[in-house]
Amino acid sequence: MDASPSTDADIVEAGARPAVPLARGLSAKLLVLTVIFVMVAEILIFVPSIANFRINWLEERLSTAAAVSIVLLQNDASSSPPTLQNDVLMAIGAKAIAVRDEDGVSRLLAVSEMPKEVDEHIDLRQTSLVNAIIPALDTMLAGGKRMMRVYGTVGDSDKVFELVMPDWRLRRAMFVYSWNVAIVSLLISVFTAVLVYTAIDRIMIGPIRNMTRSMLDFSRAPDRPGNVITPEDRTDEIGVAEQELADMQASLQKMLAEQKHLADLGLAVSKINHDMRNILSSAQLLSDRLQTIDDPAVQSLVPKLVRTLDRAVAYSSGVLAYGRTQEPAPARRRLMLYHLVEEVGDVVGAEASGIEFVNAVDPSFEIDADAEQLFRVLSNICRNAVQAMAGESDGVVVRRLTVAAERRGSVSRILVTDTGPGLPAKARANLFAPFRGSARSGGTGLGLAIANELARAHGGSVELVESVGGRTVFAVTIPDQPVNLEQARGALRRPA
Ligand SMILES: Nc1ncnc2c1ncn2[C@@H]1O[C@H](COP(=O)(O)OP(=O)(O)OP(=O)(O)O)[C@@H](O)[C@H]1O
Ligand SMILES: [Mg+2]
Repeated sequence: MDASPSTDADIVEAGARPAVPLARGLSAKLLVLTVIFVMVAEILIFVPSIANFRINWLEERLSTAAAVSIVLLQNDASSSPPTLQNDVLMAIGAKAIAVRDEDGVSRLLAVSEMPKEVDEHIDLRQTSLVNAIIPALDTMLAGGKRMMRVYGTVGDSDKVFELVMPDWRLRRAMFVYSWNVAIVSLLISVFTAVLVYTAIDRIMIGPIRNMTRSMLDFSRAPDRPGNVITPEDRTDEIGVAEQELADMQASLQKMLAEQKHLADLGLAVSKINHDMRNILSSAQLLSDRLQTIDDPAVQSLVPKLVRTLDRAVAYSSGVLAYGRTQEPAPARRRLMLYHLVEEVGDVVGAEASGIEFVNAVDPSFEIDADAEQLFRVLSNICRNAVQAMAGESDGVVVRRLTVAAERRGSVSRILVTDTGPGLPAKARANLFAPFRGSARSGGTGLGLAIANELARAHGGSVELVESVGGRTVFAVTIPDQPVNLEQARGALRRPA
């Protein structure tokens, strides 16, 4: 029986599995991912915002140019000294300012040096955020040496103001703006990452780490009660997972304890069995000597005694074999059930306990079974009944054990009825479960399990038909061996 909870090899293997290092843990991944995602989000926000920045920057210049133009217009541009015009142009970084009135008449208001050609024409009246994105990126990536002509209206005025200026100032301002945005984005992403990390670490990763640790600890020493996780009081998925893990670990531990119990029991049985076999062998020798006594009563008892001792030796080996090996396949023959039941009656000790044993089987009833195994099935069921009734001390209660049999087609059904107190709840709940069904002191809980296993090996079953105070009925169903039709036909075809 292999029931040791954890072998050395298991421990070494489990011990070799290290806890997840921090750098490869979920927390580190989460932290890096959060920074990356926030940066991506910032870039997505940055693209329209740099376009917007460019529009604003140009509009600002145009507004300043418009204000200057109005002053120049009032003073009559041609009369204003060239130094004033230059100062104005320098202040707004332009090469020339012009204005076109409602009638389409253009006037050059100030000019420092007229560029030979203009590379880019920007109509601020038709610039929207969406169509400004590509020119903005273009300015940043490829600009710096271009001349731009910017024009548009300002305020409610119908006049169109025009400005010719190089784009390097705009580009420089855009870079400064981008740099600031990058620094702020980085700060925001780190700040967000720390917040998200802290929150998720507390809500999710921490408990997952606990579960991982608990699983590793549990696999190293599954029998230590402290290694069962204590679930937190939460109702979300993690709470459910923790609860399930705790239940699983607890039931595994219970199973291990049971296995250990079985192993201990197996060991104890082996020890007892070893000595018991020797004692029984001595008894066999003594019974041989009984055969020499010339008393007819003794002579009639000796064969029974010898058979009983043989069985006892076989049983003690059988108990050992239980759980380790399969029962041998039944060697089936047609049997006279009446005689088999008589033998059962002899060994279960009904008479000695003052219990009436009634063999109600028809003497001509035949059954197709392994004699030894059917004997064990019936003696286990009958012995239980005798034990249950022997425990009752009330003298007026009827104590009778009846074995009857009926045949339905090819199926034999043996009914074992007693007038005892009925099965206790524990026995009912674990009927046929080895080691668990026993509800009496000194019982191992193997009797019914063995009986059921042997009956099943015959293709049949043992079932509890009813159990109330005063009437308990067990039924053993044994179907006849199926006929192998092919073989039977072959035998018929063969010439005699
Ligand atoms: N006819 C019965 N009347 C009352 N209780 C019964 C009867 N048959 C079985 N039981 C109950 O069912 C339990 C299980 O029986 P089972 O034969 O499997 O184990 P056991 O008799 O306790 O131990 P073992 O047979 O291995 O020595 C018994 O302990 C007993 O409480
Ligand atoms: Mg029993």
